[in-house]
Amino acid sequence: MNTNPLVEAMLERKSIRKYGEEMPPDEVIEAVVRAGQQAPFASQLCSLLLSRGKGLPFGAPLLFTVCVDLHRMELVMAKRGWQKVTNDLSMLFFGIQDASLMAENMVIAAESFGMGSCFLGAAPYRADKIAQKYKLPARVFPIVQLSMGYPAENPPPRPRYPLSFTLFEDEYPALSETAIEQAMEQMDEGYLAQNYYSKGKIMIRLDGGREESYTYDNYSWTEHISRKWGQWYRSPAELLRQLALRGFEVQLPTEEEAGLEGE
Ligand SMILES: Cc1cc2nc3c(=O)[nH]c(=O)nc-3n(C[C@H](O)[C@H](O)[C@H](O)COP(=O)(O)O)c2cc1C
Repeated sequence: MNTNPLVEAMLERKSIRKYGEEMPPDEVIEAVVRAGQQAPFASQLCSLLLSRGKGLPFGAPLLFTVCVDLHRMELVMAKRGWQKVTNDLSMLFFGIQDASLMAENMVIAAESFGMGSCFLGAAPYRADKIAQKYKLPARVFPIVQLSMGYPAENPPPRPRYPLSFTLFEDEYPALSETAIEQAMEQMDEGYLAQNYYSKGKIMIRLDGGREESYTYDNYSWTEHISRKWGQWYRSPAELLRQLALRGFEVQLPTEEEAGLEGE
């Protein structure tokens, strides 16, 4: 594999969950945000909220909230005499694409200034609270938050699936038992070797009174992630509620509306 300083920096990156108190200068923040803005976009369907100071997640000096922003798009379209007819689910997908690329550009730019960062994925479920705090207009939906600042920890880069379990050229292969087991082992052995879950005392509890059979000697990533998606967010109701509160219509269309599509 070839590397260069940029790729090496990307391979060394890790989420940072402990920060020094130093506040990054305005010029650095501006550069990070400009690098984010300059990411490829489909429609610039995202905007950023920023908080600085104490009391932010992980004690970071900066917290960005990355939003899908249909409000701003609709203001621009109105100036042109247009009304959006594209359904909100499609707009949401396009917006998430734009927002993700912007956010990751910011992560890499932050690294180049010696800063670290960590995403926080629960924002969509707290959209109403975030909207109150930042006085968000309707049609702006927080997708993810990003803490940022100078690191006060230096963990090792975290494991990933093998490349052969990720990159499928020309055709998606039948994934063999061996391939699955090897990929799981790479993740689990990697996290165990770093004492990731035991150090952080992280173990997702089993619902429904099921008895715990894991210890920190064998609890690792594939069990952790399986417990998340095997127990959490069964119903889409809360997310749909949050979207509705923010003025996003993502329900199935009525038969009448669906009929209009064919015209
Ligand atoms: C969309 C997204 C949401 C995340 N949410 C959280 C979070 O709520 N809390 C947290 O500690 N880490 C969160 N992370 C960080 C991941 O746990 C981390 O990226 C992953 O474990 C891989 O580790 P690494 O970034 O150090 O390589 C999130 C990452 C992403 C991309």
